[in-house]
Amino acid sequence: MDSTPAKLEMFYEGKAKKLYTTSDPDLIVQYFKDDATAFNAQKRGTIEEKGVVNNRMSELFFTLLEREGVQTHFVRRLDDREMLCRRLEIIPVETVVRNIVAGSLAKRLGRQEGEELKHPFVEYYYKSDPLGDPLIYPEHAIAFGWATEQDLNTIHEMALRINGILRRFLDARDVILVDFKLEFGRHHGKILLGDEICPDTCRFWDKATRQKLDKDRFRRDLGGVEEAYHEMLRRVEH
Ligand code: TMP
Ligand code: ASP
Repeated sequence: MDSTPAKLEMFYEGKAKKLYTTSDPDLIVQYFKDDATAFNAQKRGTIEEKGVVNNRMSELFFTLLEREGVQTHFVRRLDDREMLCRRLEIIPVETVVRNIVAGSLAKRLGRQEGEELKHPFVEYYYKSDPLGDPLIYPEHAIAFGWATEQDLNTIHEMALRINGILRRFLDARDVILVDFKLEFGRHHGKILLGDEICPDTCRFWDKATRQKLDKDRFRRDLGGVEEAYHEMLRRVEH
């Protein structure tokens, strides 16, 4: 295994993660915090051990995706809360894939949460805290120069492939993948999957009971938040 570069300066602190430069300009360290926010940080809290669970779960999902030929920023997990990643120039567009109606889709279009969709689809949101991540058309991203048409075609194709891989994997573990959010970035001209894949960024429902095993337990004050994160990790590890 290659030697680990030295962790240098923190260059970004977000709501759930901190990023550090390293002695290798191509690599960064992603540190996972326990801090949780919802509704554009109007609600704040801590989910104990969340950083540890999200780091380990992201490692497992990124490893699965890499094995299936999806290129990601993941290099390796360093310890409980840190992973080594390729440095990305992040595209300021959040990509959401939906299999079942929930969350903002249910609200925006007045649909029942849990309604089956005829087929999965991809949505794009502009990554902007002051604006609360508004829903956009792909044309907006192209017209404002956030991504090219070719980038968006690549992202769309990768997002649906990732959905297929994760759905199959989770179905075998009695989990329904309702929806999830992805972030992509450029690394030496190539588009890689970045960020994290965990109960903060996905909706996971138990297949038999439809019990929520994700951050909606925190967003909606349902209780049993830590237990749900640990239960999801247990299922993904087996
Ligand atoms: P939504 O239904 O609230 O639009 O969320 C869709 C999916 O995206 C859901 O799995 C949670 C995830 N998500 C994030 O990861 N970050 C966010 O800021 C939001 C709003 C949603
Ligand atoms: N809206 C995000 C979420 O619910 C978090 C936030 O924006 O503070 O996951």
